[in-house]
Amino acid sequence: MTKRKAAILGSSGMIGQRFAHMLHGHPYFEVVAYCASDRSEGKRLSEVWKLTETQLDDDIGQQVIRATDVGSLVGDGVEVVFSGLPSDVAGSIEDELAEQGTAVFSNASAHRTDQDTPILIPEINYGHLEALDAQKKRRRKGGFIVTNANCSVTGLALGLKPLIDSFGFADVHVATYQALSGAGYPGVPSVDVLGNILPHISKEEEKMNSEGRKILGSYENGGFVDSAVNILASCTRVNVRDGHLEAVFIRDKNMPDAEEIASALNGFVSKPQELALPSAPVKPIVVRAEPDRPQPLLDSFAGTPERARGMAVTIGRIRAEADSLRFFLLVHNTIRGGAGGSVLNAELAHREGVL
Ligand SMILES: NC(=O)c1ccc[n+]([C@@H]2O[C@H](COP(=O)([O-])OP(=O)(O)OC[C@H]3O[C@@H](n4cnc5c(N)ncnc54)[C@H](OP(=O)(O)O)[C@@H]3O)[C@@H](O)[C@H]2O)c1
Repeated sequence: MTKRKAAILGSSGMIGQRFAHMLHGHPYFEVVAYCASDRSEGKRLSEVWKLTETQLDDDIGQQVIRATDVGSLVGDGVEVVFSGLPSDVAGSIEDELAEQGTAVFSNASAHRTDQDTPILIPEINYGHLEALDAQKKRRRKGGFIVTNANCSVTGLALGLKPLIDSFGFADVHVATYQALSGAGYPGVPSVDVLGNILPHISKEEEKMNSEGRKILGSYENGGFVDSAVNILASCTRVNVRDGHLEAVFIRDKNMPDAEEIASALNGFVSKPQELALPSAPVKPIVVRAEPDRPQPLLDSFAGTPERARGMAVTIGRIRAEADSLRFFLLVHNTIRGGAGGSVLNAELAHREGVL
């Protein structure tokens, strides 16, 4: 099969490096351009590599970073772009690429609220791809943008989907303990966070509700319809490298017991598993019974096969009593909550004939 030519934007960043790793040797896409700002132009990827736990293959490390130039990417025949740009620069660059006929899979929040742009999590809302028909029509050359969600809500929405489908929960409270890599590189100053917890992440709590409602909602008669779920979040930044831990509280007067909750989570599979997409975890939700799991150090990279490492969400400490349910959930913020989410979205689009 001929692979589609792809480019990575923001390739020197936390998300961009994950893209470089996940797309290496990918069966559908071949990365022909690694782009960043003029600060990184001309450097080799090995000079900016910060993923100490992930082996940097020699042939990726030798790739030279180039400037981000829409005209040259289009001229080079790039069909698919994976974007790890900051939101304030992503908006216009991603728009221009889509206008020029490119398929853009973005981590940035710039287009998440657009009327015809899905926030896609293939296990939850693969039907939202339908919105691309309208988006392609309004673009000059038929390109499009697909976004993935904020990293915290990605994990939460995956955990909520089987529970909402089985039990109809609508009242969700969550407290997050979010890793430093979620703030990009170099991110939060070390003196602010060493031996400390920061109880505010700008716009994060609002995004968890608004994005969660769009993702868990439907696409009907040419528009997105929000889910009825209400997500009340309190978000913190903690001194952890990778992996967002979330303490979830749900109230419902018909609360099932913990075994029924675990069974609904454990048995959850969806479209990516049916299609056996290359980066789809065999089990998107891993349920742990031990009293001290999930932990960022032990569980952030959950997910098999190897290409889906970090793509599974881990849930543990499930406690259900009377009208309340509590559990902990862990998501790898730069893989399932970041680059891996976009790669899975592009794999779905490729297999569904949308590209
Ligand atoms: N980190 C996460 O857990 C996470 C999860 C989900 C979504 N996101 C989103 O993903 C995006 C990237 O996040 P990140 O954590 O990877 O950030 P990051 O580590 O700060 O990386 C940003 C990247 O964008 C490049 N860049 C900055 N300004 C540019 C410009 N004017 N033109 C071209 N390239 C430019 C940087 O290049 P230089 O190195 O050359 O400056 C770098 O490669 C953000 O929108 C973020 O909100 C992040």
